[in-house]
Amino acid sequence: MKKYLMYVDGEWAGNELDTMDVVNPANGEVIGTVPYGGKKEAQAAIEAADRAFSSWSSLTAYERAGYLKKLQELMLENEEELAETMTLEMGKPMKESRGEVRYAASFLEWFAEEGKRVYGETIPSHLGGKRLQVWKKPVGVVGAITPWNFPAAMLTRKIGPALAAGCPVIMKPSRESPLTAVKLTELCVEAGFPKGVVNLVTGSSSQIAGELMQNEKVRKITFTGSTEIGKQLIRQSADQVKKLSLELGGHAPMLVMDDADLDKAVKGVVASKFRNAGQTCICGNRIFVQSGIYDEFVQKFSEEVQKLKVGDGLDEETDIGPLINKDGLEKVARHVEDAARKGAKVVTGGKPITVKNGMYYTPTVMSEVSEDMILMKEETFGPVAPIMKVETDEEAVRLANQTPYGLAAYVFSENVARGMKIIEQLDYGIVGWNDGAPSAAQVPFGGMKESGIGREGGHEGMDAFIESQYVSIGID
Ligand code: SIN
Repeated sequence: MKKYLMYVDGEWAGNELDTMDVVNPANGEVIGTVPYGGKKEAQAAIEAADRAFSSWSSLTAYERAGYLKKLQELMLENEEELAETMTLEMGKPMKESRGEVRYAASFLEWFAEEGKRVYGETIPSHLGGKRLQVWKKPVGVVGAITPWNFPAAMLTRKIGPALAAGCPVIMKPSRESPLTAVKLTELCVEAGFPKGVVNLVTGSSSQIAGELMQNEKVRKITFTGSTEIGKQLIRQSADQVKKLSLELGGHAPMLVMDDADLDKAVKGVVASKFRNAGQTCICGNRIFVQSGIYDEFVQKFSEEVQKLKVGDGLDEETDIGPLINKDGLEKVARHVEDAARKGAKVVTGGKPITVKNGMYYTPTVMSEVSEDMILMKEETFGPVAPIMKVETDEEAVRLANQTPYGLAAYVFSENVARGMKIIEQLDYGIVGWNDGAPSAAQVPFGGMKESGIGREGGHEGMDAFIESQYVSIGID
């Protein structure tokens, strides 16, 4: 079993610290350890990033882009090793892990280029003796706190724009999947990022995040995780008015209207619902199907779901890997039991799979679902597809919006006017229309309502790390 280290101020660090096990959810085996760092290590990383800020932000955008492109190249060259690390530490099937490495690398390419387009402005003056300009500046040292479910892409979606803008970073990966971050850091070292520009701290979430929040040298926190933690960060950010980008929970509705192309809809719902075993913030979580096609949809969809192969993500045949841990597995079981008790029918699946120390749950379809069931109110984060019958567009829209979340929604309809009317009424930051996989580096990713603040990806993802400085120049 390998002992991995943190990376602070251009050095591998933390050898003397207690360690934290990283466990393979497919079999419960410990696959490595990382240091259990805390406040002191976070402070050291912040100091290093702060020292690096002036020189890193003074480089040209073209020079910074060179580092990012090198990192992108290295990621693609090391796709297999990164993918395997990801699968081992969080269970994702290899085919999805490889896809995530490419997705993660695409953020580096996008932001390397986008950094060259951080334009200022010249604004016409109301007085002859003045020139009015807007200059753009990097926000400063950035803390990037990332989740276990997309250990590579959520890092690059954050550090890509931060680094391109001129901000040194402190990465704090989740305790469940820190090894992908360690591997990415190794590639950052190989790419030659200057000392202090990229730092990695593993260990106590409360101590590390606590220090990132309270240390005045950190000017921006970018976080992906639960809405509950996001709210805590908002409270903690108040004293320093620290800048925040938050990508929080979702509870995505999928609306399948009676004019949908059924095969396309089935394919789209399977792709969204079962990506990463349902452990994706934008996974479909509530499926609303119009009554005219309800029975046919449930049947076709269940047939497809039955074909999904559950197993260890290292097995190339696997479509659905294990859930991340026991808590995740128990939550899924609790949601299914609650729905069954309240009258939902288990069409397929509906039980854990007993493999010694493996956290598996069968891909599940439930019909006859109603609003009062927990899985229609809370994010299940597992391979469970609850299907509810709806009659009208109005009812579908009302039910879809009936949640504090507003991250992603999906609509399946072949009627353009109808699709547009429905989507205009959906309070969601991302909508897939006849598309179960809307994510890409060049588009804004983020939510309305309690699903977050700000957007990642696209040109908005760059803005999140830039301050506007208005300069009024008297020339007479
Ligand atoms: C997430 O679960 O937040 C990431 C999903 C994506 O980027 O597509």
